[in-house]
Amino acid sequence: MNKQEWRNFKRNNIEQVWWWTTNEWVRELLNFPLIYTLYKFKWGKKIHRNLLKLRFFIKKKPIMPIMEYMVTTRCTLQCKHCNSFMPKFTDKTHIKLARFEDFKSDIDKVLKSVDCIEFIGFVGGEPMLCNDLAKMIDYACKQRKIHQVFLATNGTILPDKNMIKVMKNKKFGVQLSDYSHVKNIKTGVTVKFNDYKDMLKENNIICNSYQEKRDAVTWFTMPQIYKDEQDGNKMRQQYYNCVQSCNVICDGKILPCTAAPYIYNNLELTEKVQNEIIDLRKNISPKDLTKEIIEYFSRPNPAFCHYCHFENIQYGLPCGEQVEEGDEIRIGKP
Ligand SMILES: C[S@@+](CC[C@H](N)C(=O)[O-])C[C@H]1O[C@@H](n2cnc3c(N)ncnc32)[C@H](O)[C@@H]1O
Ligand code: SF4
Ligand code: SF4
Repeated sequence: MNKQEWRNFKRNNIEQVWWWTTNEWVRELLNFPLIYTLYKFKWGKKIHRNLLKLRFFIKKKPIMPIMEYMVTTRCTLQCKHCNSFMPKFTDKTHIKLARFEDFKSDIDKVLKSVDCIEFIGFVGGEPMLCNDLAKMIDYACKQRKIHQVFLATNGTILPDKNMIKVMKNKKFGVQLSDYSHVKNIKTGVTVKFNDYKDMLKENNIICNSYQEKRDAVTWFTMPQIYKDEQDGNKMRQQYYNCVQSCNVICDGKILPCTAAPYIYNNLELTEKVQNEIIDLRKNISPKDLTKEIIEYFSRPNPAFCHYCHFENIQYGLPCGEQVEEGDEIRIGKP
């Protein structure tokens, strides 16, 4: 690693561990005892950064600050401003529903090649549509190298007894989106926000609804997305400021964020993007995978970022507004 790559690695990996774990919604949901002790002190962040640098020099493997596992791109809702662009997937571009065997093989590979994963989240689409979800959560919670586990759900499908049993784990929490005021939901689907919350409470399962506490007006519009080549410095800064850069495993590939699965499955890819994809299902040794993951964090930004155009973003929108007939979803070249 040269000097610039090391600077990028510190910024995109080491500092991100602190950023993600001390993020407001994460603090409301998960628990990182050492980090939260350090958080109380003025020098906590600096001490933590130096500890992680030392740890990396000794272990020679990176920490995954956050990792999301996208189990499906299908959803029971059709949110206009979905940060994963789910309403824009078509029957041709949807990924196959993840199966436990694929999840286990993907995660085992990552775990052999990294120091640890601070936290892993099950996301979609709507992850509760996945038949193997309980098995996956159970497996993730049992891994020593995975410190915390969460599920992000829209509350339209209630957990069954088996799921509740698995969720009763100290490492686990539910990020329950508050779409209880959403209108124009498709027939046959209902948001069961209060029932879901009550079920979790009765079973002492940690639940956070970041949005409910903020009157469900926390959403913002997404960037316009199209193939492009933008200024390098602008992209580096854009990536650094991007709140969606959560390292998503989708269909066996490590992608940088919630927008990347949409770009990867629906748009023409630049050569740079194609060269940067980490494919967990190819034949690769743990050592080579570690090298690829270190390279991934040592770039100024992922090539995917050139697709994102963040002009005129609106904030404070109601959560989960549905796509209505005649709506133009705000993606694509203006
Ligand atoms: C993409 S969702 C996936 C899980 C599930 N379908 C859900 O909606 O909770 C992950 C999280 O991103 C949030 N989210 C989606 N679009 C957003 C937007 N435009 N602005 C802010 N948060 C958004 C959701 O509310 C949810 O908490
Ligand atoms: S934000 Fe809405 S459309 Fe997107 S995955 Fe969640 S519920 Fe589905
Ligand atoms: S491609 Fe880059 S800028 Fe766009 S959402 Fe992903 S991380 Fe953010």
